[in-house]
Amino acid sequence: MAKLCIALDTNLPKATELVDALRGYPLVFKVGYKLFIGYHRAITDRIKERGFELFLDLKLHDIPNTVREGVLCAKDLGADYVTVHISAGREALRQAVEVRGRTKLLGVSLLTSLGEEDLAELGLCRGKDEHILRLAKLALEMGLEGIVCSGQEVRLLKEELQKNFLAVVPGVRLEGDPSEDQKRVVSLEEALQAGADLVVMGRSVLRAENPVKKVEDILLKIA
Ligand code: C5P
Repeated sequence: MAKLCIALDTNLPKATELVDALRGYPLVFKVGYKLFIGYHRAITDRIKERGFELFLDLKLHDIPNTVREGVLCAKDLGADYVTVHISAGREALRQAVEVRGRTKLLGVSLLTSLGEEDLAELGLCRGKDEHILRLAKLALEMGLEGIVCSGQEVRLLKEELQKNFLAVVPGVRLEGDPSEDQKRVVSLEEALQAGADLVVMGRSVLRAENPVKKVEDILLKIA
């Protein structure tokens, strides 16, 4: 069964309130720039102390030695997952794998906020699917545990790669929610049908009048 990951893209009081209120539910909490840069262990320790899995979404993208150090620090914080941009290249991925320990490495393929037109503008002339497939192949060859992609690509990757990996899917929207800055969005049902293993949801939950109830509803749909 797919797991639900809540992206805590909010301030510290709201994040800690939500983590405390959801104690006991089978959830992963994702910490990104906003909370990590501002509050670091105040939020990562809280997530671990409450018994949840910790997803550090730092999207490491640097020279191999710097990526290696980043992964080592994420491991020390007890991160269960950490993201690395696959486009950091083979050697950065190799060094990340070498030091990851029990922390699962998730390779970011193409951000879900980018579409075909962005690829062209960036000078990446292959089509979106071909680009993502190439990156995913490299990540799995190097031993990463998962690939971050949109729900639109999960089926293709699972069929083409024929490998066991965690398909991590952000850009998921509930009916009526705006896509905002995300371009490659799918509905929760589409993400699940496509084979997502970890469904990442941020604003759809955080902006709900009752986020706890919203999470309960989503968990029911996943089950
Ligand atoms: O609010 P929303 O549900 O769009 O949040 C999606 C989360 O997933 C954000 O925290 C964003 O940083 C993250 N993410 C993403 N696309 C990726 C990788 C991570 O949207 N490719």
